[in-house]
Amino acid sequence: MTEDQPTLETDGGTDSVSSDDVALDPWGSSTIEDYRKLFEQFGIEEFDADEVPDPHYLMRRGAIFGHREYERVAEAMANDEPFAALSGFMPTGDPHIGHKMVFDELIWHQQQGGEVYGLIADLEAHSARGMSWDEIDEHARSYLLSFIALGFDPEDGELYRQSDNRELQDLAFEIGSTTNFSEFEAIYGFGGETNVSHMQSVVTQLADILYPQLDEPMPTVIPVGPDQDPHVRFARDAAARMRYFKVTEAFASFELDDEERALFRDLYDALETDDDVETEDLRCEDAAERLLEFANDPAAPIGADPATRDSLVEKLENGGKEPIRPRVRFLDRNASEAAFDALIEEIPGEKRRYDAHIDSFDLDPEEAEEIAREVEIEHDGYGFQAPSSIYHRFMTGLTGGKMSSSIPASHISLLDDPEDGYDKVKSAATGGRTTAEEQRELGGKPDECPVYELYAYLLAEGDDEFATRVYEECTAGERLCGGCKEQAAELMAEFLEEHQEKREEAKELLEDVDIDLGSDRRGLGGREEEDAV
Ligand code: TRP
Ligand code: SF4
Repeated sequence: MTEDQPTLETDGGTDSVSSDDVALDPWGSSTIEDYRKLFEQFGIEEFDADEVPDPHYLMRRGAIFGHREYERVAEAMANDEPFAALSGFMPTGDPHIGHKMVFDELIWHQQQGGEVYGLIADLEAHSARGMSWDEIDEHARSYLLSFIALGFDPEDGELYRQSDNRELQDLAFEIGSTTNFSEFEAIYGFGGETNVSHMQSVVTQLADILYPQLDEPMPTVIPVGPDQDPHVRFARDAAARMRYFKVTEAFASFELDDEERALFRDLYDALETDDDVETEDLRCEDAAERLLEFANDPAAPIGADPATRDSLVEKLENGGKEPIRPRVRFLDRNASEAAFDALIEEIPGEKRRYDAHIDSFDLDPEEAEEIAREVEIEHDGYGFQAPSSIYHRFMTGLTGGKMSSSIPASHISLLDDPEDGYDKVKSAATGGRTTAEEQRELGGKPDECPVYELYAYLLAEGDDEFATRVYEECTAGERLCGGCKEQAAELMAEFLEEHQEKREEAKELLEDVDIDLGSDRRGLGGREEEDAV
């Protein structure tokens, strides 16, 4: 693996990555060095805090850097409509300041009115990390105490463990019948040696991600590190696959693929603005002709990739004299006959029924979506919306490299003695210059400083003015690392002390939560990670 290769880290697997691409491996252990590549390669979008009504400080400070379709959630939030947030925690060790980011994200969504779920990924910890059930129970309790201590309201939200949730397992089973081993190979690099329970834990995670929508489909955000993106993408795909109907746009009776449909839309728009064309009288063969003319005209209003153009021209020519009429199409994916019949009944206005689809001439796509979803739910389908996600940066280790649970000095556990927390910050690496003189002259480099990161992601909390002051004083050379670390160390010790007090208070609240933390399960004892395939 080369130095400058952008890869990605989770908290401690053993795999390495050997392609030039950015790797997203949920069980790997590499560091993301170039988040930007993620945008290009995987279609993760850049997060813009300005599009959120009252953004959290992790959003404002760029700690949350990417998302998939978060606008659905932001919109629901702005319009006081239902939305949900869910994330999961593998109980493999003590909760640390990296987990705190996810806890805070969930808590913030709860405070914004969302239905919030926190889950213990015990099946994953057992099957992918070889943790014994006793270890899992102990760590699970500790995660939940910190989550509650940081502000999660367990009466308003839901906590569960994967192994104990029957509805979740039913959903996982259902999802499992729409996925196959080749996909596991392609997405996760699973092979013949991968243990079957690990695969089961993956379908369980897909089910986790869709779980908040079981009662009612709603925009749902999954706050995670970018290493979890493969699961998010897979779950988005699974959500679509399980739908009874797919609503698309169409222009004539024949089927189109996505590229052809987009080109048809462009063609139609171009012809509609052309004064010489009456779109009402337009027939397929005329449209084919126009499309071919455009192909030879450098000044044509639309461009197209030649393969798509050829296939569309062929379909249009086969369409002959059929008139072109824009419409909304309901494609049958998994519907029962009864659901298909019911859908026809429900569609108002002019409609036409085909073998595996129905065309409607008086609905817009949103209305159509809604009807399709209602019929699906009425007929025992799920009606899932694609889940959204937000991605946060991994914190840099205090020792400069990656934050790793196997290097205690590199991270701060939420259970660390306040004094140890103080000491770790005091001995942290910085973005400072070699001498005080140099620092005064050139200023420090907060962007490369793990201590500044502590201020921005944790210690300054919601106080933007304070975070900015640290940054500016540092770059201006007015702040020297010794004093800066002293201040951060004190704040860290205070935070840990207060947090640990709140954990004590949280114990009582946890008692009332309906979750079994003494699972009494039989099973394999703890194994070294290497043994857990
Ligand atoms: N796989 C996650 C991890 O490694 C844990 C997890 C399980 C999870 N189910 C989830 C995360 C659902 C987000 C959503 O930590
Ligand atoms: Fe980091 Fe503070 Fe030093 Fe700046 S002054 S480099 S923020 S430790």
